[in-house]
Amino acid sequence: MTAIGINVNTRAVKASVEPRTHLADFLRDHLNLTGTHLGCEHGVCGACTLLIDDMPARSCITFAATCDGARVITIEGLDDDEIATELRTAFTREHALQCGYCTPGMLISARDLVLRLDTADERAIRVGLSGNLCRCTGYVGIVRAVRAVIEDRRKRGIRPITGAGRVRLGPVGSGNGTSVERSKTTWSSASSEVQERSISRAAIPDFIPDRVFEQHFMVASPPDKVFATFGDIRLVASCLPGVSLTGDPTPEHVEGVIRVRLGPISAGFRGTARIERDPSTLSGQIVGRGDDQRSRSSTQGEIRYRLVAMEQGAATRVELSIGYSLQGMLAQIAREGLVRDLAARLTADFARNLDLELSGHGGSGPAQQAQSIDGLALMFDQLRALVRKIFGKIFGKS
Ligand code: FES
Ligand code: FES
Repeated sequence: MTAIGINVNTRAVKASVEPRTHLADFLRDHLNLTGTHLGCEHGVCGACTLLIDDMPARSCITFAATCDGARVITIEGLDDDEIATELRTAFTREHALQCGYCTPGMLISARDLVLRLDTADERAIRVGLSGNLCRCTGYVGIVRAVRAVIEDRRKRGIRPITGAGRVRLGPVGSGNGTSVERSKTTWSSASSEVQERSISRAAIPDFIPDRVFEQHFMVASPPDKVFATFGDIRLVASCLPGVSLTGDPTPEHVEGVIRVRLGPISAGFRGTARIERDPSTLSGQIVGRGDDQRSRSSTQGEIRYRLVAMEQGAATRVELSIGYSLQGMLAQIAREGLVRDLAARLTADFARNLDLELSGHGGSGPAQQAQSIDGLALMFDQLRALVRKIFGKIFGKS
């Protein structure tokens, strides 16, 4: 995984990506910016066009990792852009779209022409848009719309900008990736092994999880006691089935392995996590990431917790928000419902073990730690529930 920092639609985004992840997938799958469409995924159709450092670029053939330090603008980032607004109006008026699949990429290329072209020359517009394919419209409406916007702006005295303000030579994004440029940015670069190691140990970055869900459980101990226990990382790890530590934890950092089995695949995610705690609000968060070499999968996860006093302070409701992103082979089979059930079972086991520890009857030990979380059993549980439901419907029972 490579740590990157990209400015997307004026928002600073830090993430860790596989070297092969292309920018379009990163934007769509990690940031939910689905306005960037994917057609050919070979750099031919132009559907995935967006702006990298103000230059139109194919995001399907641009690796996200090479955009570290770049400024990316997608169609969503042009909502309030003056030229894009004029183009959208002209596209609507001139019937320049039908299914709309090519339209985001077409608008971004068209905006670049409106910025650069001196006159509304039809041939220049057709050449300029030749990298954006449209299966529906026959292009007549599109060219008419772009011509209309250019003519209107020139009539209003708005002059073209030579080269659309570009100062760099070379391919799109070539301004990023030189050590001189990168050292000036506020984000740390993962370009050297030393930096990579220090990132993995100390700076586990925040990320935007693909999936987030809530869980809660009760323990029969006061919140202060539960919070203090959460500070004992070894004890917390011993309460989690399938988890074992691989180093000495500190209050802010932990390294370990979590073993899970999903369908036919067993995985042992080896990783590292950052721990933050706030005693004033009895809350905290753990943000981590890990890789499983065997299934060539990787995950990022975060657990946020908050402790709420119940039963006049004698008991605690532990509220959890669990977020994760999964890449690699396991992502193909780990459907959201299965992961959710896995987390529910993990949470239930953790709650039970924690309760035992807090009441002085701790049952966690090596045998328990060695267990993995069995996703196959979960699938059978789900199957059993489904069969029960079907028979219930047939025989009129719930
Ligand atoms: S999807 Fe990128 S050029 Fe076709
Ligand atoms: S409007 Fe359908 S592909 Fe262009």
